[in-house]
Amino acid sequence: MGISNTLYDRLGGKPTLQRVHKVFYDKAFAHPWLGQYFQGRSQQLLEDQQTDFLTSIIGGPKLYMGRAPKFAHQHMVITEELFDLRQRLLGESISECGVNDDLKDEWLAADNALRRAIVKKDASECTLQYNDEILDFKKPH
Ligand code: HEM
Repeated sequence: MGISNTLYDRLGGKPTLQRVHKVFYDKAFAHPWLGQYFQGRSQQLLEDQQTDFLTSIIGGPKLYMGRAPKFAHQHMVITEELFDLRQRLLGESISECGVNDDLKDEWLAADNALRRAIVKKDASECTLQYNDEILDFKKPH
């Protein structure tokens, strides 16, 4: 013991997460389907929230102060297929940043743990609060 062995530390900590999330959100915003969900949002803010949230679930400092993902996404129709697409883009981003495949798989597993909280079949599973509107974009042909 005495040697920190968290996924956060093995990945190289915050700089690695920041680099990957920049590459990932560049891809996500540019994507013809996934990108529609992010229209009008601050990419930098999303990168920072994603970095803080992931940090908190892979053994780093508990910096994330935002809403739990189940509530942050409760007005978004995010299907299994869209979630799979996001995981594919995230995996590509992780590899492009030079992270090895074992660490990539651990990262994707941690991310995939949120699937059940976020994925929905259709808009009937959404909940609205405040002035949120339902985000429900169909896969472009
Ligand atoms: C295809 C899947 C996903 C889509 C389309 C999506 C979309 C979004 C959008 C549009 C926002 C901005 C919400 C707003 O500004 O009101 C957001 C926020 C956020 N997302 Fe996702 N997301 C997805 C998956 C995930 C996953 C898997 C995680 C965690 C591993 C995650 C973590 C977060 C966090 C932490 C925030 C900030 C929450 C807050 O506003 O307090 N998202 N997401």
